[in-house]
Amino acid sequence: MAYESLQLDGPVGKSLVRVSGREKVTGSATFTAEWPIENLLHCVAVPATVAHGTIDSIDTSEAASMPGVRLIITPENVPKIKQVQSGSETNFKTSISSKLYPASENEIFFAGQYVAAVVAESFESARDAALAVKVNYQIKPHTTDIDDAPADERPDSVMGAPAVISIGDADAALDKAAIKVDHQYPLIGNHHNPIEPHATIAHWSTQNNKPFLTVYDASQSLPIAQASLVKVFGLDPKQVRVICKYVGGAFGSKGLMWPQALVACFASKMTGQPVKCVVTRRQMYGGTGHRTPIRQRVAIGCDESGKIQSVIHEGYASTAIKDTYTEAFTMATRMMLQTQNLRLSQKHCRLNTQIPTFMRAPAETPGMFALESAVDEMAVKLNMDPIEFRRINEPEKDIHQDKPFSSRLLMECYDRGAKRFNWSKRNKQPRQTHDGDWLIGHGVASATYPYLTFPTKVELTWKSDGTVNIKCCTHEIGTGIRTAAGQLLADMLGIPASRVSMEIGDTDLPPGGVTGGSATTASVGGAIRLALEKLKKRLIELAPEGSPIAGVEAENIRLRNGKLIAGENAESAMLAVEDLLSAAMKDRVSAIGDFKGPKDSPTSNHSFGATFVEVAVDETLGLVRVRRMLGCYACGTILNARTGRSQFIGGLIFGVGHALQEATHWDHRLGRITNDNLAEYHVPVNADIPDLDVMWIDTPDFNASPIGAKGIGEIGITGVAAAIANAVYNATGKRIRSLPITPEKVM
Ligand code: MOS
Repeated sequence: MAYESLQLDGPVGKSLVRVSGREKVTGSATFTAEWPIENLLHCVAVPATVAHGTIDSIDTSEAASMPGVRLIITPENVPKIKQVQSGSETNFKTSISSKLYPASENEIFFAGQYVAAVVAESFESARDAALAVKVNYQIKPHTTDIDDAPADERPDSVMGAPAVISIGDADAALDKAAIKVDHQYPLIGNHHNPIEPHATIAHWSTQNNKPFLTVYDASQSLPIAQASLVKVFGLDPKQVRVICKYVGGAFGSKGLMWPQALVACFASKMTGQPVKCVVTRRQMYGGTGHRTPIRQRVAIGCDESGKIQSVIHEGYASTAIKDTYTEAFTMATRMMLQTQNLRLSQKHCRLNTQIPTFMRAPAETPGMFALESAVDEMAVKLNMDPIEFRRINEPEKDIHQDKPFSSRLLMECYDRGAKRFNWSKRNKQPRQTHDGDWLIGHGVASATYPYLTFPTKVELTWKSDGTVNIKCCTHEIGTGIRTAAGQLLADMLGIPASRVSMEIGDTDLPPGGVTGGSATTASVGGAIRLALEKLKKRLIELAPEGSPIAGVEAENIRLRNGKLIAGENAESAMLAVEDLLSAAMKDRVSAIGDFKGPKDSPTSNHSFGATFVEVAVDETLGLVRVRRMLGCYACGTILNARTGRSQFIGGLIFGVGHALQEATHWDHRLGRITNDNLAEYHVPVNADIPDLDVMWIDTPDFNASPIGAKGIGEIGITGVAAAIANAVYNATGKRIRSLPITPEKVM
C-alpha cells in the first residue's frame, strides 16, 4: 500500500533555525542534570575494578564516617526488586540494559559493573566517599579479547531476521567464480562519548495516597523507560512519570536505561529524598554500552565481465556474559548487490565486558565498511571504475525479501555526486597523484540505512488564537524535531511555521517511539498526518447548519490558512476556524493521531547515498588527512534543509572518527579499558574535518512513508570508513582492512 502523496509547497524544505538551538546557546535549555530540585541528594557509583570475580567483602566504614554521607547502597541493603527482562530480550519493550542490577550482585562479570553506591549531600562528598569504599574480590579468570573467545553463541534472529541467510549456493558459486576477493576485516570496539554524560534524577513522592516516581533521565526512549520502571517497581503507569526535555548527544547510547537510573531510584526510595546520579566520563566506559569489536569476512566472486556470482558476509561480534545484545552487521548486505548466491551469517562470543549497545548506525557502519571495501577491491581487480562496477551489479529488487524497493536512486546519487566531486578527474592507478610529500587518493562507497518507524501518538490542538500545538513524548536529541515537525504541520495547514508549537520529552504526553533508528521524523510525521485528518473532521462536525461547508463530504473539504474550504478555492464556501470555534463557544479543538507504521510493506524500504572522499597520505609519518568529502543522499523528502544538512554532516564526521581515530583499547591482562577518557579516546575535532559537501535528491517516497520522508540521522556515517579506506588505497596502493586506520598501518 502506497500512501497518498502530500502537496508540500510551504515551509517544508526551508532552512528554518532550530528553536532548540537558540534555547541551548542562550542557556535556557534544561538538561537532565540541571533540573533545580530542592533537597537533592547526590549519588556516585562504585564500579568494579576486576573483570570477573566474587565480592568477598565491602568495607564501608571509612566512607560512612565521611562528612555529608547519608547512605551507602551495597548488595546487603539494596531494595529487593523485580527482575525484569532487558531491552534486548524483549525486543525493546523494556529498556533495562542488564539483568545485573546496580549494587545488587555479589558476582562480578565485567569491570565497571556497579558494586555499590554512595549517597551524600553534595556531589563532592559522594565522590570522595565512593573512592573510600573498599571492595575485596576473589578474582576469577576473564576473557575480554574477542580473538580469545570461541564464537559459539548464535542468536536465532538478529533485528528481525534470521542470523543465517542463504540464497542459492554462495560457497559453490564462489569456488567457480573467475575472479574473487576474500578477506577478513577486523574492527576494534568503540565508545560513544556524547558531550552530555548519562544522568538521572529520581524522586519518590506520594500522590493520591500512592507512591509516585518522577524520573528525569537523559534518554532517547522515555515511554519505554516509563514502562520499564513500572515493571521493575510493580507500579501502575499512572504512578511513573519520566521527563527529558533536551539530550546533549545520544547516538544510540541513551536508548537503553543504564545502571545510574536504577541506582538513583533505589537511593531515592531508601532516603525519601530526590537523588541525582551523573555518570562520570570514565564511568561511561563500563557503564553505558559500546560498539562491539567485530570480526568479518567478505568474499565476492565475479565472472570475467564483472557480474557478481556470489557474496558471502560472515563473522562474529561480542556480547556480554549475562546479557545479550546482537549486532546485525550483515544486514545491509541483504540488499546492496545483485547476486543469485548470497550467504550471510552472524555469530557472537561472550566476553567479560559490559553489554554492547546501539551506536551510530549499529548494523550498517561496521557491515558496510567490510562490504564496500570488498566491492572496491573487486573493482580494482577487474580494472573497472568502482562506480561502474556497482552500476552493473545494481539489484532490480531486494533479493532477500523478494520485494521491489520503495525507491532506491543509488546510482543517481553516484552520478550527481561524481559530477560535483569531479570524480572523472581522479587517477585510477594508485600512487599517481602527489602534493609535495603527500600522496593524494580518491575513494567512494555506498551508504544505506533502512526506513524504520516506531508506533507514535500525537495530539494536535487548534486554539482559538489561530495557533496549533503538537504534543508527543518524543525527544530532542539535537536534530531539531520541534522545528521539523512544526514546519511539516504548518505546511499541511497552509499557515506560517511560527504559528505551530510542540511539546515533547514528558511521559504525560502521548507516547512517541524511540528516537533512534533514524525513525523519529517519519513516525511523528505519520502521526501528525493522521491527527490532522481527525482534527479536520472534528472541526467539520462543529460547523453550524447552513454554513458554507454544510453538506460537503469531508474529503472535499480542505483545511488551509485557518479556513475550512469546500471545493477548489471557492471563496463563498469558506469557513474560518476562528469563527467556527467562537460560534461553538470553544477555545480549542484537539485530535489524536495513532501511527502504527507500515505493516507488511509490499516494498523494501531504505535510504541510499554515495560517499566521495579525497585523502592526503604522508607515508613517512603514516598520516591520513581527509581533504574533501561529499555525500549525496536519497532519503525522500527533506523537511528542513538546514537541520537535514547538519544531520548528514554529523554522520560524515562520525565516519571520520570511526575510520581514522576512534578505538577502545584494553589491557587484557587486567580486563580493563586503558583509554577511558577524552584525552586518549580520540574523536574528530575541527582540525580533523575539511569542508564537507552534502547534497540530496529531493524526491518524496510515498511508497514507504506517509510524509514522503525516510530517515536521515544515521545514513551519513555508513559509507565513510570504506570510502576513506578506498581512498587510502588509491593514494598509496596499500589496502587497509582494519579500523581505525592509524599511522602504523599506513607506514
Ligand atoms: Mo541510533 S544508534 O538508532 O540511536
